[in-house]
Amino acid sequence: MTDAAREALRLSSLCIHGGEGMDGQGAVHTPIYNHTTFGFASTQGILDVVEGRAEGNLYTRYGLNPTIRAVERKLALLEGGEEAWVFSSGMAAVSATFMTYCGSGDHVVCIGDVYGGTYELLADNLPSLGVETTFLLGSELDRLPEVLGERTRVVFFETPTNPSMEVIDIARVAEAAREAGALTVVDNTFASPVNQQPLAHGADLVVHSATKYLGGHSDLTGGVVTGPQRYVQPIWGWRKNLGQMMAPETAALLARSLRTLVVRVRQQNETALAVARFLQAHPRVRRVNHPGLEGFPGHGMARRQMSGFGGMVSLFYDGDAEETAAVVDRLRLFTIAASLGGTESLVTQPVTTTHHGMDAEERRRRGIDDGMVRLSCGLEDAEDLVADLEQALG
Ligand SMILES: Cc1ncc(COP(=O)(O)O)c(C=O)c1O
Repeated sequence: MTDAAREALRLSSLCIHGGEGMDGQGAVHTPIYNHTTFGFASTQGILDVVEGRAEGNLYTRYGLNPTIRAVERKLALLEGGEEAWVFSSGMAAVSATFMTYCGSGDHVVCIGDVYGGTYELLADNLPSLGVETTFLLGSELDRLPEVLGERTRVVFFETPTNPSMEVIDIARVAEAAREAGALTVVDNTFASPVNQQPLAHGADLVVHSATKYLGGHSDLTGGVVTGPQRYVQPIWGWRKNLGQMMAPETAALLARSLRTLVVRVRQQNETALAVARFLQAHPRVRRVNHPGLEGFPGHGMARRQMSGFGGMVSLFYDGDAEETAAVVDRLRLFTIAASLGGTESLVTQPVTTTHHGMDAEERRRRGIDDGMVRLSCGLEDAEDLVADLEQALG
């Protein structure tokens, strides 16, 4: 199949065939080239690759490795980007993006709740390098034009957000950021490209923790940045010199996982909606956050920019911190764990894990209380998950 024919494929087909062809030995997928270095027939040959006149395999830390390049091409096709780089973790992808685009004196706007590591990077690490961040709540989007300034380089957000599942209007933010001369960077980890493609809504760059839905089996750690060549290319040198490369074995595992991405995520969408509907009708549950619920405030926006509502649900139990912890402890099929997006269902009480470090007043401002529980719905039967929740809620 030609590269052009492959690029014209739909999402499930791209998951299988995107970026890959038959190997020289006839293997049906790109094999693991775990080699650190690749040989050349001449000095001119290696110089052509070093100086960018020719494509070629050279050195694995640079990403010039066939296993890594194959999964990068697949990921770019899945998000509608021209180029993608993979990283050793989601935080490596996020930090390299900020390091590339922000220097001393620059300004970042961060909207809504973001992953704790990203928050720390923006609130603690980047200020030590002279980069300042303004944090806006998702409900404060009207203030965006007023906080964007001449020094603003990046507007960053996740959608849906963690753990409140707020849905942020990508096109609206991207338009305001463009007018101010800033890049819009969307962390698409929660939605995955199956449910949402931020580049199509005007985002300039998309980042992922591949550790979550892209990897999908809780057995690999990785990150991705994708978008148009002109914005992705400058990040390459930072990844190379900060040494943030994904290992070829992990790249092959990620490619393996991506082949089932569409079927996994669509099933998780369906299961999460069934779980959310069950919880909504439960007398001990005060509120349920899931973009697929008709009464959820972000539902209309989600219908416009998402093609599925995702596998994440959060609920507010009608009880204090200890009573809520007891509900979580009674769950048998949901494992108490901090991650998400895998085949097995996971549960956390944000005040004891992801938001433990945030002061109580800030948590209140963000609507995160002691009764909040976050669920990552896996691939078990929805009926079994509902039965587990029913026995735990009492
Ligand atoms: C939305 C989001 N972005 C980024 C990250 C960081 O990813 P990693 O743990 O792969 O570094 C996480 C991790 O939980 C996340 O949930």
